[in-house]
Amino acid sequence: MSEQVLPPSWQHVGRHDLFPVSRHDDTARFDFLANLNGYLAGQLSPKVKQAYEQRVKPAFEKAAGRPPQNRHEVRKAMAGDPTYQTWSALRRSSMEMRQQAGRALVLRQADALIDKARQYNTGDDGLKLDPSVQVPRYASAVDIHCMPGGYHTELTADDVTAAANYDCGIFATTGGMLGRYNDGGGQALAQWLKEQHPEFKPRRILDIGCTVGHNIVPLAQAFPEAEVIAIDVAAPMLRYAHARARALGVNNITFVQANGEALDYPDGHFDIVMTSMFWHETSARAMPKMLAEIQRVLASGGLTAHLEQPQYHGMDPYEQFIRDWDAYNNNEPFWSVMHEYDLQQMMTEAGFDPQRYFETKIRGVVDRDIFPVASEKGEDHGRAALWTMFGAWKA
Ligand SMILES: C[S@@+](CC[C@H](N)C(=O)[O-])C[C@H]1O[C@@H](n2cnc3c(N)ncnc32)[C@H](O)[C@@H]1O
Repeated sequence: MSEQVLPPSWQHVGRHDLFPVSRHDDTARFDFLANLNGYLAGQLSPKVKQAYEQRVKPAFEKAAGRPPQNRHEVRKAMAGDPTYQTWSALRRSSMEMRQQAGRALVLRQADALIDKARQYNTGDDGLKLDPSVQVPRYASAVDIHCMPGGYHTELTADDVTAAANYDCGIFATTGGMLGRYNDGGGQALAQWLKEQHPEFKPRRILDIGCTVGHNIVPLAQAFPEAEVIAIDVAAPMLRYAHARARALGVNNITFVQANGEALDYPDGHFDIVMTSMFWHETSARAMPKMLAEIQRVLASGGLTAHLEQPQYHGMDPYEQFIRDWDAYNNNEPFWSVMHEYDLQQMMTEAGFDPQRYFETKIRGVVDRDIFPVASEKGEDHGRAALWTMFGAWKA
């Protein structure tokens, strides 16, 4: 077996005033899950590939007289393979366990969390909830990535528990690779702007689908003079996000309950419109609609930038199949279709100049002090998430 570098312990997660109070066993559960995920990705996943190369692909070729042509053929061929079944079942179980570990931590202190959020939120116009906002079907019909009740479900008045669960578990799911505060993508975008476009001084920034605000907080910190709006359809996320931002000392973000499909802002209002890990949780109907809205509210000379997993173009069918696992086993129904799109074409149809479209890789900023081995060896063992960033500057 190759050397396995362990993910950082959950005890290093970034805490703030609203963060759930944990005990020894919460850390132990999350550490077990982070290590299980690390094992699945680092040790078992290569065996799944080996099973494909040595057993499944040759059997397919023998029967069909050609190699599998796309990820769907690979998926159907792999479905009966015992190594794949083991890896897949463990991965699904780890997603389910992560949710239950978070719920065990959060639900036992639900009243205290709700009270704490109320203290930050009551009478502060940085939180604008609107109960008339409908949660779209694509965000409510399934429990996205196995989150019971999704982002929006409220178990009681002023509920924040789904958000607290999201905030505390993502560090374990990602093995800490999004950073202590799970904000490595937002930090990377802020850094990219400062380094590549130092002259660009946004006055207004919009984040669509902000969830608990992980990736908009670094933008608000990088541009403290900017007015920042972060929208989401899910009230529990926004209550928590607002209280979290204030607890972290960030006061220039207004969290608004709104749907990105119909933005209540004038034409040309924002200098930056961003999203992070958002599009794959929308739909084929909503995505073009929202891109057109983004084009409308973006000022001339403004930037729209989107952090996502890579598109499938140019990937071999096996790689596409493995990445597609979430669509079929982790309640991510739009994931598969979305990763096939020609994003430049979509943005052109939304009104952007194709000449000003860009697609690049951007490395998530990782807290070096929680990756001791990486710091010592001066490299990151692939842990810093490599995001795809696509977007455009508006003419
Ligand atoms: C994967 S999460 C995004 C993660 C977040 N941007 C981050 O960087 O941590 C998707 C979020 O989008 C929200 N959402 C889904 N559809 C939306 C829409 N049409 N308008 C606004 N928010 C939406 C969901 O409620 C959820 O909080």
